[in-house]
Amino acid sequence: MPDRTPYVAANWKMHKTVAEAAEFVDALLPRIAATQSDVAICPPFTALSAVVERRYGTAVKVAAQNMHEEASGAFTGEVSAAMLAELDVEAVVLGHSERRQLFGETDEALARKVPAALAAGLEPILCVGETEEARDGGQTEAVLERQLQAGLAGVEGGKLGDVVIAYEPIWAIGTGRTATPEQAQEVCAYIRDLLRERGAAADAVRILYGGSVKPDNATELMGQPDIDGALVGGASLDVGDFAAIVKAAG
Ligand code: PGA
Repeated sequence: MPDRTPYVAANWKMHKTVAEAAEFVDALLPRIAATQSDVAICPPFTALSAVVERRYGTAVKVAAQNMHEEASGAFTGEVSAAMLAELDVEAVVLGHSERRQLFGETDEALARKVPAALAAGLEPILCVGETEEARDGGQTEAVLERQLQAGLAGVEGGKLGDVVIAYEPIWAIGTGRTATPEQAQEVCAYIRDLLRERGAAADAVRILYGGSVKPDNATELMGQPDIDGALVGGASLDVGDFAAIVKAAG
């Protein structure tokens, strides 16, 4: 199995102004200077440039939280992959469950967004995850298979290793109800099996777990064989908590 560099990403959602983002990054950088892990910050669009400027010269990546699949056009309120790349943003979160549930994000759009991100040189962080209802109904694997099939439909085998997958069970997001390490590992192993059907790079793909990751559960979750890091929401808003999670990743 190839060594996969641990990866911790801060999904700030609709939090932090430019001033707050700048203050956070200035406080974070010295605290995580020794990390061997990949670290990404996903601020709102308005704070992307401020975070990009502050992290130059460090290993911290900057990711947007969404983008449109088209290069340009009459899509009021949207931004394209090239617009993000121009800001020196390196990655983009795609298919977050809040986008899917609250803003009508579809698998069809994601099938186009993931290759559009790759074509612009952005690393797609593709989010997948089941609702509580789907889990209780024994549909977890079917939901994940559908989401992955769609999201990766336009990705050539050779590019698979450039995609990051975030497994976020919807019932664990912002609820304080974390999947147990065993539950999370079981699903992430299943995701890796699905990736193996798509190409040899499957073992290089980082699979992150997300859903109420905190400093006190991060070590155990990220210690699972198929969990390569975390996508952190609530706990990423606090610099001490986020630094502790990065430290737990190694
Ligand atoms: P949470 O959010 O850590 O607050 O549960 C995770 C996410 O939505 O990415």
